[in-house]
Amino acid sequence: MVNAQKFIEEAVEEIKVAAADGHVVMALSGGVDSSVCAALAARAIGDRLIPIYVDTGLMRKNESARIKQLFGSINLKTVDASAGFFDSLKGIIDPEEKRKAIGERFIRIFEHEAKETGAVYLLQGTIYPDRIESEGGIKSHHNVGGMPLDIRFKGVIEPLRDLYKDEVRVVAGALGLPPEIQHRMPFPGPGLAVRVLGEVTPEKVAIVREANHIVEEELIEIYSPWQCFAALIGLGTGVKGDVRLHGWIVSVRAVNSRDGMTADPLRLPYETLDRIASRITSEIPGVARVVYDVTPKPPATIEYE
Ligand code: XMP
Repeated sequence: MVNAQKFIEEAVEEIKVAAADGHVVMALSGGVDSSVCAALAARAIGDRLIPIYVDTGLMRKNESARIKQLFGSINLKTVDASAGFFDSLKGIIDPEEKRKAIGERFIRIFEHEAKETGAVYLLQGTIYPDRIESEGGIKSHHNVGGMPLDIRFKGVIEPLRDLYKDEVRVVAGALGLPPEIQHRMPFPGPGLAVRVLGEVTPEKVAIVREANHIVEEELIEIYSPWQCFAALIGLGTGVKGDVRLHGWIVSVRAVNSRDGMTADPLRLPYETLDRIASRITSEIPGVARVVYDVTPKPPATIEYE
């Protein structure tokens, strides 16, 4: 386990040296990784740090309002880029292509912001498991392998590159970040796009966003899973009233894990699953069926793409 104080001193020093001569942009998502990065960089370079929240249109329910509330006091810049992200995702079915399209758009936004603000460095909250999975060719995490090669920054700084998620949480505590951030569930960089199998559209994302919200409401407080969410995995038949219809199939996932490299599904009580299924099918029009995924990682991954 990491020695948090020592890590903080070394990371602050590293950022000071790596970004000695310019401004630094970073994507602040409100997750524990990017929040820790921002806190370290703020200590290292003060207001030469330019944190940017990109509203991709692929975020969780109420996320934009939450970020503005949490980080409103620092110099946070918000960019509403949802139309552009949906445009980039149009017609893409392959999961790797999706990640690349999202990574590419992210980087272009940051290059644009860098130009506007004069920043020459990019700070990223990449952690150790992100690198391993990207280097091992399992999938490109949008903040690593998805990055287009013609990136136009003078340098990319990744102070958390050797840490596991639980170590990042310890550092978050030592930095004095609010418990809400310290204990927040992981959320993938490409957002809800990897929770919609097949082509991503605003309509599908709206459905999966509501389903995610219901799963979080039903599970987080009572079971404290390492991660839980819903994904839109296909279409099937259903019946509403007397009418047979085609409706979405939502899969619910709730797992415990140390670091995301392996994971075990929660053995949820039937009543809980029953309530989640009733809520999702009654509160979200167009959903005909809810299933619970009991597959560990391996052989499945945690996310669906
Ligand atoms: P998988 O699906 O690979 O996920 O078992 C392991 C953990 O990583 C998260 N994840 C991502 N995080 N960018 C990220 O920052 C990504 O592209 C990405 N893909 C998966 C996932 O939510 C889980 O916690």
